[in-house]
Amino acid sequence: MRVPELQGEEIPMEEPERQYYFIEKCRGIVSKMSQELGRPVYYTVVTFGCQMNARDSEKLEGILEAVGYQKTEQEERADFVIYNTCTVRENANQRVYGRLGYLGKQKKKHPHMMIALCGCMMQESHVVEKLKKSYRFVDLIFGTHNIFRFAELLCQAMNSDRMVVDIWKDTDQIVEDLPVDRKYSFKSGVNIMFGCNNFCSYCIVPYVRGRERSRNPEDILKECRTLAADGVTEVMLLGQNVNSYGKNLNPPVTFASLLSQVEQIPGIKRIRFMTSHPKDLSDELIQVMSQSQKICSHLHLPLQSGSSRILKKMNRRYTKEQYLELVDRIRAAVPDISLTTDIIVGFPGETEEDFQETLDVVRKVRYDSAFTFIYSKRSGTPAAIMEDQVPPEVVKDRFDRLLQLVQEISRQMSSRFTGTVQEVLTEEINGQDPSLVTGRMSNNLLVHFPGDASMIGSYRKVRLDECKGFYYMGTLV
Ligand code: SAH
Ligand code: SF4
Ligand code: F3S
Repeated sequence: MRVPELQGEEIPMEEPERQYYFIEKCRGIVSKMSQELGRPVYYTVVTFGCQMNARDSEKLEGILEAVGYQKTEQEERADFVIYNTCTVRENANQRVYGRLGYLGKQKKKHPHMMIALCGCMMQESHVVEKLKKSYRFVDLIFGTHNIFRFAELLCQAMNSDRMVVDIWKDTDQIVEDLPVDRKYSFKSGVNIMFGCNNFCSYCIVPYVRGRERSRNPEDILKECRTLAADGVTEVMLLGQNVNSYGKNLNPPVTFASLLSQVEQIPGIKRIRFMTSHPKDLSDELIQVMSQSQKICSHLHLPLQSGSSRILKKMNRRYTKEQYLELVDRIRAAVPDISLTTDIIVGFPGETEEDFQETLDVVRKVRYDSAFTFIYSKRSGTPAAIMEDQVPPEVVKDRFDRLLQLVQEISRQMSSRFTGTVQEVLTEEINGQDPSLVTGRMSNNLLVHFPGDASMIGSYRKVRLDECKGFYYMGTLV
């Protein structure tokens, strides 16, 4: 421990008490800063990447609020800026470096500004090397495994003139009961597991998020109950592969049984989850979904490729036929469910025939929407050293054709509810037209309808008057 001010004091060894101790320490420093500046001190958390990162950012914000910082959306005004990074594709990395360059210039103008970086990118040693060499103005760098130590690291950085760097290779620790500042009062993500053991051959996530660890069901249920008591009615259970939840717990618990238990919590009206790996999606889960009153009518089921040959090279452990058969079983049990997916174009060795197989699955399944990605080479993954990397112009051409098909089908699929009345959760004032509010249906589609701020967080019946492609215009009934 190199924090001079703290020498001689008894620092708790147990978590989360240890972090609460450092929150108190930081509070003192922040309050002094605020007095010296004669104004509140501000923070900004910038989040890249997936829902898991978004949830982590709420934890960062929880700590920053607890130590006395106030939130600002204006990065250049902030006294403390933290980027929670993603490295799933190369362009995510480039965006971070680009914005960081700009932030460096701001810091020259406001030297007291503190800059911190965390998240998945920081788990890559070449990134940290580059930051140490070319981005000396960064004050604090930590990774995904020690994010629960943010208060302690913040305290260290506040007491140091040098860059504080703390990256762990892995962890089996899950620390409960730290502060969280939710973005929405009425809905919340809930981590049910961390890490991933699947090692899809293109994917960096298992290397930067570590081995799969499930939270105890009691902790998850306790969190859901606390959220419900605090006004949350919609929970999104989060994990890289929720279908393998609980396999390593003692005793083991299935994801389906966890869902059934969350279903019992009074106050929770909607349950969502992300992400389902097709290889682990059980009949028990399909049954629970078909009987549930609360699980939303939406399933995100990443396909990645429609070619069994490519799926094998991707290490996805299902074939095109198995995937299609799974979709049939789900649709038979939960009619009208919205299906969405992720697709990668241009995986090494992908031929036009392979690509046609992907288009074939898209035509057969008819997704409500799909995220399409150009394959991005991630160093350290098996796919990065595979032969036959597909030339960029070929990938671009396939990508455009896929996008066109996906959008055409998605437009048709979305419009199938026109004229019906749906229950929506009112989420926010419409960004473009403040006389409208935006609500989300069970199937995850959005509808804009006349309303005001007092409706936010409430469930309303809305008639879907007109489909505008990927959203609806509606009226209250
Ligand atoms: N755990 C989730 C996905 C997490 S990453 C799952 O298995 O479905 C989100 C999406 O990013 C993936 O579904 C995949 O489509 C895409 N992706 C991951 N690695 C990629 C890469 N190297 N290049 C392009 N897309 C990638
Ligand atoms: Fe990546 Fe595959 Fe794990 Fe998803 S399941 S995070 S794609 S390795
Ligand atoms: Fe990105 Fe990390 Fe999520 S790499 S997609 S933020 S798990």
